[in-house]
Amino acid sequence: MNTIIGNDINKAADLLAQGKLVAIPTETVYGLAANALNAEAVLSIFAAKQRPQFNPLIVHCHSWQAALQYVSDVPLIAHNLASQFTPGPLTFLLPKKNMIPDVVTAGSHLVAIRVPKHPMAINLLSQLSFPLAAPSANEFGYVSPTTAAHVMDSLGTKIPYILDGGPADIGLESTIIGFDQNEDIVVYRVGGITIEAIEKFIGKPILWATKNSKPQTSGQLLSHYAPKTNLIIGNINELHALNIGQKLGLISLSNSYENLNFEKRFLLSPSGNLTEAAQNLFSSLRQIDKYALDLILVEALPNIGIGRAINDRLHRSQSIFKNQQ
Ligand code: TXA
Ligand code: MG
Repeated sequence: MNTIIGNDINKAADLLAQGKLVAIPTETVYGLAANALNAEAVLSIFAAKQRPQFNPLIVHCHSWQAALQYVSDVPLIAHNLASQFTPGPLTFLLPKKNMIPDVVTAGSHLVAIRVPKHPMAINLLSQLSFPLAAPSANEFGYVSPTTAAHVMDSLGTKIPYILDGGPADIGLESTIIGFDQNEDIVVYRVGGITIEAIEKFIGKPILWATKNSKPQTSGQLLSHYAPKTNLIIGNINELHALNIGQKLGLISLSNSYENLNFEKRFLLSPSGNLTEAAQNLFSSLRQIDKYALDLILVEALPNIGIGRAINDRLHRSQSIFKNQQ
């Protein structure tokens, strides 16, 4: 298939209405979208990504109001959070209504709902009479795409159209939350909305999903977001000393470790800004993966704000986890 990159929202809408796949920009990462109410179209997402069908998809809606048609028993706290954080990078796990096909949720009674903030995504969604199921537009397990060119690299020939909305603003996937029996918030994946921002809004500490929490989410799979080159996180001076003689790459926040020998260096934010580091993370991982290095050494970032989500993705891209999916 000849994959076209363009910015024609009407063309994207037409293809989606025909049950075809379109890659769409969002403020977090690019998504691989299909009509969420059309089970056959949704199945073709799994085929294009080679994604296992036990791994459910996020449903994107053009407003919180529009999203409410597809869910029931929405706790008050969810409405409150939505008024504060949507449109934006926060995904809500909520009881689904029957019109959402089981293939979208991998059989779960909960559906993941998100209202994206990217103007092109909102414009597209407002033209459609259905919501869009969309996982990140990469082959399963690989690094998420933050530009149309990344999508082309990963899925070119498999989809007819990539809607180009420029580089993603945030650069990391949405934060995923659910609610327990007491209507307390449970975090399933850290992401674009920081834990600090949610805790400040609700005025108490947040709960964390554990290995035994229901539901399980693939954001919790250990190996994910992984480049093909082996990667390890830690203290750069120590890791370098342990790996002398190898072709090494470096990913760090702002220190270029000029005294050490690296074939390739990527600084995520020369000024040490974590928001900028998040924007650059996935594209740095994709670029450094092209140099046939033996090993990528990555500096652990401060575990605060968006740094927590960056560290989460970096940990899950470490090669030692590759066989533990
Ligand atoms: O920012 C984002 O969330 C991006 C953009 C495109 O919106 N999407 C994204 O989708 O990251 P994906 O499929 O790569 O990750 C979605 C995560 C997966 O870990 C999946 O298991 C979880 O959401 N998820 C989706 N539906 C779920 C459900 N019903 N129950 C539990 N987890 C669910
Ligand atoms: Mg993904």
